[in-house]
Amino acid sequence: MLIKTDTELAILGGPKLNKKEPLRWNNSLGKEERDAVLEVMDSGTLSGFQASPNEMFWGGKNVKKLEASFKKAFNVKYAVAVNSATSALHCAMMSLGLDIGDEVITSPYTMSATSTSILMVGGIPIFADIEEETFCLDPQSVRKSINNNTKAICAVNILGHPANLNELRKIADDNNLILIEDNSQSPGATHYGKFTGTVGDIGVFSFNRHKVMQSGEGGVMVTSNNKIYEKASLFRNHGEAVVEEFGINDITNTIGLNLRMTELEAAIANEQFKKLETLNDERIMLANRLSSNLGSFDGITPPVTLPNNKHVYYMYGIKYDENVTKLPRKYFVEAMLAEGFSIREGYLKPTYLEPLYQKQICFGKKGFPFSEAKRDSKLEYSKGLCPVTERVQDNSMVLTAVMQSPQTLDDMDLWTEGVKKVLSKKEKLIKHMKK
Ligand SMILES: Cc1ncc(COP(=O)(O)O)c(C=O)c1O
Repeated sequence: MLIKTDTELAILGGPKLNKKEPLRWNNSLGKEERDAVLEVMDSGTLSGFQASPNEMFWGGKNVKKLEASFKKAFNVKYAVAVNSATSALHCAMMSLGLDIGDEVITSPYTMSATSTSILMVGGIPIFADIEEETFCLDPQSVRKSINNNTKAICAVNILGHPANLNELRKIADDNNLILIEDNSQSPGATHYGKFTGTVGDIGVFSFNRHKVMQSGEGGVMVTSNNKIYEKASLFRNHGEAVVEEFGINDITNTIGLNLRMTELEAAIANEQFKKLETLNDERIMLANRLSSNLGSFDGITPPVTLPNNKHVYYMYGIKYDENVTKLPRKYFVEAMLAEGFSIREGYLKPTYLEPLYQKQICFGKKGFPFSEAKRDSKLEYSKGLCPVTERVQDNSMVLTAVMQSPQTLDDMDLWTEGVKKVLSKKEKLIKHMKK
């Protein structure tokens, strides 16, 4: 493809390099999903659930089909379909049976629900740092964060790359902890031949609108542990109302919510699940092209896939070193945006820097559950807690989601030309931005 990059930068009034609308959300919904939805509509049963001690406690036919597909594909004993990954995380935390003030170690470089799910059950999130290359939990940092109050580790397979799961599994086993994987962003990724979401005791998947497979909203929790499955199922559907009839004696954490997935969502998720491998393959193909293109720019490091891992590229996380490119990250991103490319500076603020943790105000005015922390030392959420996370977020992370269908290899080349254009005109750009 012949591309003209010798034009003026768009941010300085020149023509945009990318004339297409920048892509924001995945839309792989097609005839299959439409037909599945119409079938549910025609059945008149939009939800198959009822909070009664009968067959309907377990949901409708599409929900059961989705759970069966997840069990088979991921080789796990149980799957619990719910209305979001936030709900699946909540189910996971509820199933641990934490006492108020117990601690769960997790990553600060993730979407907020990973750690709010811990607070929601009266637990205390403890943040360990991330690894520089994958942006996932650093096992060394996790090890240092363990104390007598630690009950679980919640790893996050972020942006599509697996966390160092074998190492985290070992730490969990050595310390008698449950390992949860927030796998919302990495369905179909693998770590040493195992699917992410299945190395841990619990795996969580998301089907919200911007995930690789989506049903608008939705999620699944998988496990092979019968106790965890039982608690999660009760929590999903007003467990308190059925424990007697189900003969459940240990009623801890069986109080429930309505986290039920509708038949419409499940019908769509079933069709999307069939496409997951293809959707992942497309992303990998496009990401590989981008990586091979970007490898030639000093100061721009494409995402790393560690040996024995499969990256599924929910997003494409570049490490940008402005000391090498000699163009501030902020200016680079603004100029790329002006050229019409999908790009973003940083991912999310480290979770502990959010007001929830800074003020330690969650339920009520007295700081519950932070106020119930059992540890002797003070809870630590101050700036500087996780230096790698802060450095990545503040200095180097540049994100794009350009590597997904219906974008093509030509679009990857055009994106690369955008980088070339912006970097080649950096002196003029810096002069303009400083004005
Ligand atoms: C890592 C991670 N965890 C949890 C969630 C929550 O997912 P949901 O929107 O399905 O509740 C998300 C969604 O963006 C996520 O990326």
